[in-house]
Amino acid sequence: MQSDSSFRDYLDARISTDGEGINPKIFAHFLSYAKRIERPVILDLGAATGGMIRRMVTSAGLANPVFYRLDPNKDALEEARRQIDLLLEELGFAVRGGDQVLTASKDKRSVEVHLVAGDLFDEKLLASLEKLPLTGVTTHAYMDLVPIDPTVAILSRLLKKGGFFYSTVNYSGTTELLPFFADPGFEQGLLTEYNRSKDGRQVGSRPAGGSHAGGLLYGAVAGHGFKVTGFGSSDWSVFPWNGSYAPAEETFLNSLLLTIYEEGLRHPAIDRISLAAWYAARSEEIEQRRLSLLTHQTDLLAVKT
Ligand SMILES: C[S@@+](CC[C@H](N)C(=O)[O-])C[C@H]1O[C@@H](n2cnc3c(N)ncnc32)[C@H](O)[C@@H]1O
Repeated sequence: MQSDSSFRDYLDARISTDGEGINPKIFAHFLSYAKRIERPVILDLGAATGGMIRRMVTSAGLANPVFYRLDPNKDALEEARRQIDLLLEELGFAVRGGDQVLTASKDKRSVEVHLVAGDLFDEKLLASLEKLPLTGVTTHAYMDLVPIDPTVAILSRLLKKGGFFYSTVNYSGTTELLPFFADPGFEQGLLTEYNRSKDGRQVGSRPAGGSHAGGLLYGAVAGHGFKVTGFGSSDWSVFPWNGSYAPAEETFLNSLLLTIYEEGLRHPAIDRISLAAWYAARSEEIEQRRLSLLTHQTDLLAVKT
């Protein structure tokens, strides 16, 4: 297992790759919708180190937003607090920070960020969230980790008519490494196990969205009173342009490779020697700036009817 700090580094390294992948048309629709709300109150589920909120703050234009960031991982929340604080200062905001709430102001604009450590499926927490005047919910790289239908049912409880649900980077079943590996059958088998590991995840007795989170989400929202107003791909695409990766991309690729390798170690059917050879060869290709990655994911924007 990767340690908390390497998980944090991985999430951080993902931010630029994620940002490039985010579907621009859906993001533009989201912004134009959210900008019409006088004081958007947004719950970011599975907020981790705050990539989604940092993107919303940077891309700006939201009038005086209030963010509630929910995640059980206190370490990641703390890192997010630090990063959001830094970002707002860089953007010229005067920031006042407490442990739980951070407020920032600049001219007539304000940003408020609340940190909530907890689990969405905790009924007591849910009862408090229901009291918030939420205008929208966002998720980023989250729906594959939780059961889709029960999560969307909760969002339907939390949002009123006109409330938005903007969900980005939902895994949609394929990860491809290029150039092809010398033994393509071995790598295909390994990537199939990697996908299956996502599908095997249970939250309580319910299966998580897993490797088809994007498609399942598209199907689930209508059943809970939402209308899909935007849908499209947000694939990760990493290529060594002009023979180099951005520093974050290299960290990101190395972390992803390690995750796939560790998944392989858990499966007795995968030959350990071939796995070690695969890991060494693919790591070497990162060093030589030869490895490319494509991962299929989707974004969705839906409005409560
Ligand atoms: C891949 S990270 C999300 C990245 C983040 N949204 C971003 O913008 O960078 C997934 C996060 O979901 C959180 N998570 C998993 N199950 C959860 C639950 N039931 N309630 C709230 N957060 C959860 C995990 O702790 C983890 O930090």
